[in-house]
Amino acid sequence: MTRPAWLGTAHGRTLPFSDFSGQDRGTPIDRVYIEQFLLAHRDAFRGRVLEVQNSQYTERFGKDVEAADILDVDPANPRATILGDLGLPSSLPEAAFDCFVLTQTLQYIFDPKAAALAAYRVLRPGGVLLATAPAVSKVDAKTPELDCWRFTEVSCARLFEEAFGEGQVEVRSYGNAICAAAFLLGMAAEDLRPSHLELDDERFPVIIAVRAVRPSD
Ligand SMILES: C[S@@+](CC[C@H](N)C(=O)[O-])C[C@H]1O[C@@H](n2cnc3c(N)ncnc32)[C@H](O)[C@@H]1O
Repeated sequence: MTRPAWLGTAHGRTLPFSDFSGQDRGTPIDRVYIEQFLLAHRDAFRGRVLEVQNSQYTERFGKDVEAADILDVDPANPRATILGDLGLPSSLPEAAFDCFVLTQTLQYIFDPKAAALAAYRVLRPGGVLLATAPAVSKVDAKTPELDCWRFTEVSCARLFEEAFGEGQVEVRSYGNAICAAAFLLGMAAEDLRPSHLELDDERFPVIIAVRAVRPSD
């Protein structure tokens, strides 16, 4: 069994406790926040829902889902029902979805303005985007050559307001200094006390979460 990690035991270390953001120890800290955000907006999972890479959150949080589609740019993903590039908005179906679940993907798209526009275009009028993006994170171990960006509340607000329009976008951050440090050190949520995870301090975000609505015609 993995020895519990305490922040004190990080003293003198130069390597993290995990190379996999804590996934091999328990629940990655960013996932706790992503799930809190999606749970708070579970009413948006309805009708035709699009998610990237798999449909884990649509299955978990969806209630009135008519169809669950999976988007990927990677043709080797056997679960993908739509192959398209978020960096190339015209490669995606237009006005086709009631909800787009875009978790932890924006950092891979070199042109995030194009991705915000793509997210707008795939939604039907009235459709809802639920997006999260890393504010801090280790570099992706599997595809480091694709891992381009980290985000702030300001960059996400500007990106998505440009695409969806002013008043259509809510942005907030999750996390705090201890959780951000623990996440980078490869600690899992189970290594922390629940009280560590409860405080959100916008000065030290772990993730940025965006809810945006495509205006009705
Ligand atoms: C780390 S996963 C994130 C999605 C996953 N549901 C999650 O919450 O972790 C990143 C996925 O985004 C895909 N991806 C990367 N760049 C993309 C792009 N330009 N367009 C569409 N998908 C892309 C990758 O192939 C991969 O399946």
